[in-house]
Amino acid sequence: MILELKNVTKTFGKFAAVSDLNFSVNEGEIFGIAGPNGAGKTTLFNIISGFYRATGNIVFDNRKISHLGPDKINILGIARTFQIPLLFDSMTIYQNILVGSHFGGQGKSEVENRINEALSFFGLQELRAAAVANLKLLDKKLTMAAAAFATRPKLLLLDEPVAGLNPVEAELFVGLVKKLNREHGVTIIMIEHLMNILTEMSDRMMILNNGQKLIVGSPETVINDPETIECYLGNSHA
Ligand SMILES: Nc1ncnc2c1ncn2[C@@H]1O[C@H](COP(=O)(O)OP(=O)(O)OP(=O)(O)O)[C@@H](O)[C@H]1O
Ligand SMILES: [Mg+2]
Repeated sequence: MILELKNVTKTFGKFAAVSDLNFSVNEGEIFGIAGPNGAGKTTLFNIISGFYRATGNIVFDNRKISHLGPDKINILGIARTFQIPLLFDSMTIYQNILVGSHFGGQGKSEVENRINEALSFFGLQELRAAAVANLKLLDKKLTMAAAAFATRPKLLLLDEPVAGLNPVEAELFVGLVKKLNREHGVTIIMIEHLMNILTEMSDRMMILNNGQKLIVGSPETVINDPETIECYLGNSHA
């Protein structure tokens, strides 16, 4: 087990965006998360990555991290991407990876090595000096993923990485995520609305609804679960 959440709750005023959540993620797996809009998925990533302080307990790699901020958590081995690309438009891809990653005391040449490795892995070497403002969405998303990968995470959190991409681009991105998992052993937690992508990629999946866990299990178990079906049909009819 690489990540365990116990009784995690995040309230905004009286509203609980994440409510008494318990689940764990195994080392080396791709763990998919789905759920209706507003279910608390992004909030959950903000909690795990230290952007929000929540109640309850979170253990990552045998260490309690629930009290730590984003820089510390990144240095311990958790990196993330954002649902909407969060980049510095006027800078180049290379500069974005440099300033967007917490390298935690690595020397200059080691940092350069890591950035070059990330650029190569995500196929961005030729665009490294391009300003981010002029990039298409796919390349912005690849830049964000490269910035996360450059910190050599053990766990990578991807928030709707293929949303807005066309099917060919989405397939390319998905292939890279699988390769990251297989060849670099990075554990992945991925939020995705497209069920066919999520079920195809995930070892296990969780459905969140109203900040709560509806079900966790294999993709088949989850998509055939009456409560999951109800949750999705209920929402598409709303
Ligand atoms: N900073 C905040 N302040 C107040 N409410 C918030 C804040 N962040 C999130 N929320 C609320 O918490 C709920 C969960 O939001 P969240 O963004 O986590 O949902 P989500 O599952 O990621 O949805 P989507 O699929 O649309 O991305 C929503 O009702 C949202 O309005
Ligand atoms: Mg979200």
